[in-house]
Amino acid sequence: MYRIDGKKISNLMMEENREKFEKYKPKLAVVYVGDSPSTLSYIKSKSKIAQNYSIDIKIVNFDEKVSEEKFLTEIESISKNKDIDGVIVEKPLPEHLDIKKVSEVIDYRKDVDCITPTNYGKLITDDFIIAPSTPMAVINILKYENIDFTGKDVAIIGRSEIVGKPLSLLFLSKKFGGATVTVLHSKSKDIPEFTKRADIIVTAVGKPFFLTKEYVQNNQPILIDVGINYFEGKIVGDISYETYQYSKVYTPVPGGVGPVTVSTLFKNLLILKENYG
Ligand SMILES: NC(=O)c1ccc[n+]([C@@H]2O[C@H](COP(=O)([O-])OP(=O)(O)OC[C@H]3O[C@@H](n4cnc5c(N)ncnc54)[C@H](OP(=O)(O)O)[C@@H]3O)[C@@H](O)[C@H]2O)c1
Repeated sequence: MYRIDGKKISNLMMEENREKFEKYKPKLAVVYVGDSPSTLSYIKSKSKIAQNYSIDIKIVNFDEKVSEEKFLTEIESISKNKDIDGVIVEKPLPEHLDIKKVSEVIDYRKDVDCITPTNYGKLITDDFIIAPSTPMAVINILKYENIDFTGKDVAIIGRSEIVGKPLSLLFLSKKFGGATVTVLHSKSKDIPEFTKRADIIVTAVGKPFFLTKEYVQNNQPILIDVGINYFEGKIVGDISYETYQYSKVYTPVPGGVGPVTVSTLFKNLLILKENYG
């Protein structure tokens, strides 16, 4: 059993691109609504890394009660600003703000988290140059750990638009070889039947300690935990600690997928700047 160090991978990704960051000095607009402490702490950690790599972050905050019309107009205007290279709108948004509408007003050339229909569609046609940062972070972790998943059995638990679904497309992509992918969700009949034979299991469920040893016994899989859950005053993942000992390799929470998501986002910013800036 080996514990993957997401922070180390994140630093490595940033250092590998240091010269490019310093050459391009990309500018990222980070938009958020309200004042949720978890969003603020996420933005703070992004800003801290950015400072070290000549990445300029412009933080734009909206009141919880902002009208959808005003919000969309402002996002469109930020996205059109020639001085801005990328825009990210932090989720979750209040219920009256529809992320689908937001995705339609962002210029795909500034769409650093790959939410626009153009960039998202390119995942299906396999001609993408960027991918949503959290699922791409999973692929980056495997790449940096030299784990080739070509032809492997992958079980993803979760089918959301931001994690599970795009991750299934990345695992299938010919760019990375191509795994055999099963996507499981709340309507799936017998999840252990699939996870017990998987080489790699990714959890993106949002339920503390969802994955227990009964799901993995004897097949020693690679476990990647995307979950971020607040449980008894601390941050925990979707995988129970006990399950780690039945794995070949695992990512912890915190310190696994989270930090690599941030470096993947900055890598996306660089790719957009290099291609369209
Ligand atoms: N590390 C990062 O950077 C990062 C980024 C984004 C999200 N996250 C975390 O990742 C987790 C998932 O996020 P998300 O946005 O994908 O969440 P989401 O939209 O709530 O999706 C959760 C998925 O889990 C499935 N699910 C729920 N209960 C289940 C059960 N009992 N059995 C099987 N499947 C079940 C749901 O199935 P249905 O579709 O059938 O409802 C859904 O597909 C959260 O903890 C979130 O905080 C982390």
